[in-house]
Amino acid sequence: MEGTERLIRRSDVPKPTAKELLLAYVAPGILLTAGIYHHTVTLLDVLFIQRQPSLLIDVSRFREQAFSRFWLANGEALSGDMPGELASLLKTLRGAILDIGPGSGEQLHLYTSSAPNVDAIYGAEPAEKLHAKLAIKANDAGFERKYHILGCGAEPSSLIPALAREGLLQDGGEGSFDEIVSIRVLCGVPDVKETAEGLYGLLRPGGRLIVMEHVICRDSIIARTLQAVYMWLGRWRFWMGGCCLDRDTEKVLREAGAWSEVELKTLNAWSTIPQIVGYLVKR
Ligand SMILES: C[S@@+](CC[C@H](N)C(=O)[O-])C[C@H]1O[C@@H](n2cnc3c(N)ncnc32)[C@H](O)[C@@H]1O
Repeated sequence: MEGTERLIRRSDVPKPTAKELLLAYVAPGILLTAGIYHHTVTLLDVLFIQRQPSLLIDVSRFREQAFSRFWLANGEALSGDMPGELASLLKTLRGAILDIGPGSGEQLHLYTSSAPNVDAIYGAEPAEKLHAKLAIKANDAGFERKYHILGCGAEPSSLIPALAREGLLQDGGEGSFDEIVSIRVLCGVPDVKETAEGLYGLLRPGGRLIVMEHVICRDSIIARTLQAVYMWLGRWRFWMGGCCLDRDTEKVLREAGAWSEVELKTLNAWSTIPQIVGYLVKR
């Protein structure tokens, strides 16, 4: 069965052209350069415009500001070509939704056809500088009163108190949500195992966790080596808001709890930024 699954996956994936391969190899370098640029601009902003040098002592807040600046400048361009599998899933949302790390809401237009079936969406976005654009995008997508922005992360220590303040944690929080959406977020949470288990707990039995995440490369030695080079020599995690290029997020998700159905597909398996897309249903 395992072998069949892999065969289907591989034959599913068209062979990359030389140009696609080259682009995939250099893409993290281009993003790193942009990350370093936005850290530099944020440093100048903090020192000479905000005149708040004390902010530099709070490294995580400074990095959050730098990543927000990066994302406001590049998030839209980095969201132009989302996989069709994700778009199809986001059309079928229903009930109470937890949207982790929605950023500036670049994906929300994909949720629009779900709006009549959605009761409420709680967007857990720790970067406050992204909230204004997120609110506009939620309105534009047709979720005006249904979208609630929470200034918290997806890790239980931050998320659970924020949900409690909203009165969303009946029965200790187990099974509060019909669906949870995570798009390009689990690569950057501090402890992915703890976060995945926390999210599992928040789903009701039969509820779906919809994901699109970039993951460790398993299919190409060159791409896997480049992931390590960008991570360790390029200090990727530092410049890219805590993101990791080489997390085995699929394994972590599969092991986060008992699932009755798992449908995850690997896209661009040969790339430095391969992605998993699909869903897991809680037993
Ligand atoms: C790469 S962006 C993706 C944004 C959006 N999901 C998308 O795909 O367009 C990652 C987002 O995760 C947020 N983030 C960072 N750390 C987080 C955490 N611990 N919990 C939840 N979100 C986090 C960032 O602020 C940012 O908005």
